[in-house]
Amino acid sequence: MTFTLHHKAVTTSTNLDAREGAPGDVFTADEQTAGRGRLDHRWLSPPGKNLIMSAVFNVEGLDSERISTFPLIVGLAVREAIMYFVPPNPPAVLLKWPNDVLADGRKIAGILCERTGDRVIAGIGVNVNQTEFDKEIAARATSLALLRGEDGVRVESVRYAVLSALSAHYETWRLHGFAALHSDYAAVDALRGHTVTVRQTDDDAFPIHGLCDGVAPDGTLIVAGKPIFAGEAHILTSGDINTYA
Ligand code: BTN
Repeated sequence: MTFTLHHKAVTTSTNLDAREGAPGDVFTADEQTAGRGRLDHRWLSPPGKNLIMSAVFNVEGLDSERISTFPLIVGLAVREAIMYFVPPNPPAVLLKWPNDVLADGRKIAGILCERTGDRVIAGIGVNVNQTEFDKEIAARATSLALLRGEDGVRVESVRYAVLSALSAHYETWRLHGFAALHSDYAAVDALRGHTVTVRQTDDDAFPIHGLCDGVAPDGTLIVAGKPIFAGEAHILTSGDINTYA
């Protein structure tokens, strides 16, 4: 797959820019004024420090079950790209369903996939050279610079690595579906074997709670033996378990 880059110094959200794009178009920016995350969260990123990118893919002719697994293969590609830049003896870099990339349990990349007709937009934020985070997320976030103990990874290099991995995984997924990449995902699944809580919204009054059996070949998350189609998962720590006792 070939990509065409469109760069702006400042934009509202590259995912919004990508709505005007065709398959293969990639929208990047140094800064977003209205960066968006999953579940209506905001995505904040200091100017010029991180990868901010939205790429457009063609999903014409694919059924909605297959399309619903697209966010998982984007996560797989972003994780793979990040592995090129982590230091020797890296911490575990894993995927928290559907597609948060965690390094040593802290979020290093977030992905927001959106569909418009026969296109899907893969919106990707990777923390590259950011070393300070807002108080509310500081304990849960990291970056390549923090992992390496130095900044200076080029955002363009990370972008290139992400697009290369994404192009390869997209072709496999288009032809064979997520099932063909399922074992790759299972090998880096952060949730399998943990007790988790999954919320569909931030104020979900009935979160699902139980032992996670990982991600199934159809892309659902199996918790307490049942498939979950969407939501935000949290691993329960021993402190949380006391709360539930
Ligand atoms: C999340 O983890 O909640 C998803 C975050 C996605 C952020 C990226 S940055 C590029 C693209 N533009 C946006 O407004 N969001 C995505």
